[in-house]
Amino acid sequence: MNQNDLKRLVAQKAIEYVPLNAIIGVGTGSTADLFIDELALIKDNIVGAIASSERTKQRLEGHGIKVFDVNEVESVPVYIDGADEIDPEGNMIKGGGAAHTREKICASIAEQFICIADASKEVKVLGKFPLPVEVVPLARQAVARQLSDLGGQPVWRKNADGSPLITDNGCHILDVHGLNITEPLALEIQLSIIPGVLTVGIFAQNAADIALIATEDGVKVTEY
Ligand code: A5P
Repeated sequence: MNQNDLKRLVAQKAIEYVPLNAIIGVGTGSTADLFIDELALIKDNIVGAIASSERTKQRLEGHGIKVFDVNEVESVPVYIDGADEIDPEGNMIKGGGAAHTREKICASIAEQFICIADASKEVKVLGKFPLPVEVVPLARQAVARQLSDLGGQPVWRKNADGSPLITDNGCHILDVHGLNITEPLALEIQLSIIPGVLTVGIFAQNAADIALIATEDGVKVTEY
């Protein structure tokens, strides 16, 4: 199986975790896209979804799934999303798709975070994948200096044409290389209070409750 086959396998498995007649939270990325396609097949069994990005909103609506504004929803039973890295405790790095701010908001109102990923995302220690940090544009350089002082190498994320990537929230992304994140929760808190940081891509406070990991031998289920 190639990586896309594994992503499809785990996307199909995740449907077992979708409660009937509920509004669910839906993540962003290639794995989440495949999950949305599977969700479309059972769309009459759910009330709708909250979306973690404009991309996800469009894909859900394209399948005829009702999308609710997060302000309209007090909580959701499950939030289902991919990850860029996941450690043995269910802590994750997210934001490779620049959507981690809304992803973290959706996760924060979810009773359960269900992470769906292929086995290439499993790591012992977070940090090989550059840590995405969404910043207010005015504060980009100030935040970058603080990240450098902490031992990271921040790189301003650009589009293929060289223009700055602008997130759904009108902000910029710094991808921080060279971090060895042995204490994810402590670093999430430390970075989150830097003035100008909108959201850090460490998901420790909102770690996964369940991970569905696609392997050549099937989907491995881990409950934390
Ligand atoms: C989006 O910003 C990310 O947090 C994604 O959830 C993450 O990048 C996983 O994406 P893939 O499923 O495409 O690997």
